[in-house]
Amino acid sequence: MRRVLVAGNWKMHKTPSEARVWFRELKRLLPGGGSLLDSEVALLPAFPILPYAREVFGEGPVAYGAQDVSAHREGAYTGEVSARMLKDLGCRYAIVGHSERRRYHHETDTLVREKVLRLLEEGLTPILCVGEPLEVRERGEAVPYTLAQLEAALEGVELAGPERLVVAYEPVWAIGTGKNASPEDAEAMHQEIRQALARRYGEEFAARVRVLYGGSVNPKNFADLLSMPNVDGGLVGGASLELESFLALIKLAG
Ligand code: G3H
Repeated sequence: MRRVLVAGNWKMHKTPSEARVWFRELKRLLPGGGSLLDSEVALLPAFPILPYAREVFGEGPVAYGAQDVSAHREGAYTGEVSARMLKDLGCRYAIVGHSERRRYHHETDTLVREKVLRLLEEGLTPILCVGEPLEVRERGEAVPYTLAQLEAALEGVELAGPERLVVAYEPVWAIGTGKNASPEDAEAMHQEIRQALARRYGEEFAARVRVLYGGSVNPKNFADLLSMPNVDGGLVGGASLELESFLALIKLAG
C-alpha cells in the first residue's frame, strides 16, 4: 500500500561538478534508469546542485529535492530559497525540521510549520523530520517529545492527500553516530506517529502516509528496519554519499 522511499540527504557534501558525475553514474546503474524499481529513490543535495539533478533526472523516476526551504514566499530575505524556486527546479520534496536545522540554526516548531505550508502551497511534499535527543530518550520522554514536534508542525495544516506528506523519524542520537535505533524501537515510534496522524487526518489517510526512519541507516541494518510494518523507507545521510552503499540500500528496498 505504501511505496518504500529511499531518500539520500547529502547535507553539505559534494560540489555541483562532483554531483553531476555521480548522478549520471547512478542513473546508468539503476535498472531502467530507475523505472524498473518498486521503491522510490529521492536525492536531497545542497541547493546549488539541484539544477544538475534536473538535468540528469528531469521528470524521470528518480526524484530530487532540497534540504530546506524558506518560511517566506518572496521578498527581501537575503540567503533564503523559496518553495516557488524549488518548484521551478522540478523538486518533488524538501526536508523540513531536520535536527541539524533545529540545533545549529535555531529553528522552532512554528518556523517548521510555516515551511510545511510554503511547500504545500507550491505542490511540493515536505519530508518532515521529528525525533528526540538522547537525554529525552533517557528520561523516557521520547514519544511525547517527538509527537509534540509532529503536532506543532501540522497544526491546522490541511493535506490534499496522504502523498502530500512524508514524516521522517530521526532520533538525534542516531544521526551520524553509527548507532541506529533498533528496528523494534523504530517501529514503536512509527506506530505512535501513525496513530497521531490518524487522530488528525483519519485512519485511512494515516495508513497511506509514509514514515521513514533516519539515523545511521546502512546496508547492514536497512533490511531489518524495513521488515517492520510501519517503517516505509529511510532518510539516509552518510550511506547515501557513496554509490556502492546507496545502490545496496536501493536494492534492499526493491
Ligand atoms: O537526514 C539524514 C539523517 O540525518 C541521517 O544521517 O545516515 O548519516 O546518520 P546519517
